[in-house]
Amino acid sequence: MSNISTLVPVIAIDGPSASGKGSVAELVAEQLGFHYLDSGAIYRIVAYASQQNQIAWSDAEAIAKLTAQLHIEFSHGNILLNGNDITTEVRSEEMGRGASEVAVHPAVRHALLDLQKQFRQLPGLVGDGRDMASVVFPDAILKIFLTADVEIRAQRRYQQLRNRGLAADYETILQDLQARDLRDSQRSAAPLKQMPDALLLDTSNRTIQQAVDFVLNAYKKTTDTYKKT
Ligand code: DC
Repeated sequence: MSNISTLVPVIAIDGPSASGKGSVAELVAEQLGFHYLDSGAIYRIVAYASQQNQIAWSDAEAIAKLTAQLHIEFSHGNILLNGNDITTEVRSEEMGRGASEVAVHPAVRHALLDLQKQFRQLPGLVGDGRDMASVVFPDAILKIFLTADVEIRAQRRYQQLRNRGLAADYETILQDLQARDLRDSQRSAAPLKQMPDALLLDTSNRTIQQAVDFVLNAYKKTTDTYKKT
């Protein structure tokens, strides 16, 4: 039987690091007036909080326990942990790596499941991550696997960091992305993979706007089909 939350439409956008899925998901949510879940940010917060509490990213049990005590808020594009703004800290490359490391633990993933599901509210949700379609919202009305060649993703990440006035080395970024791709897709718990019912969106030769249009068109087609049935 369907409950109220399963009646709320979800667009699940999964894909590897630096594929542009965050920007696309946020813009799609804005266009549709939907809520937005950046699930990667949650894993980054957990990595940050673990570091602050001197807990190693390999210590699954201690991290899962800590996770239950975290008060996480997203407010006007800012990330708050226990009331403190940690937006800049969690967006660092180090916390991207930490997030990928804490995310391999099934106990940590399990502890974060309810928190992510709570974002499913009317009129709808766009969620981006690695397991939106496979685990968190398997009944999503639309599933997108958004990717791009790793060299192109490394180039984009390099440019992003330079634009922010931060030091960046292309080769280091490339190696880091390759290591993260491998860890995220080879882990046993909720690995990154394209679901059979997900549409593939390769943004290697597409702009963000073209990718947004692709998702909006696909959503329109899906809802039109639903209306006819
Ligand atoms: O999307 P991102 O780069 O902010 O994510 C950082 C890491 O968090 C990513 O390398 C793997 C992990 N992650 C995950 O395992 N599952 C998700 N739904 C989102 C992120």
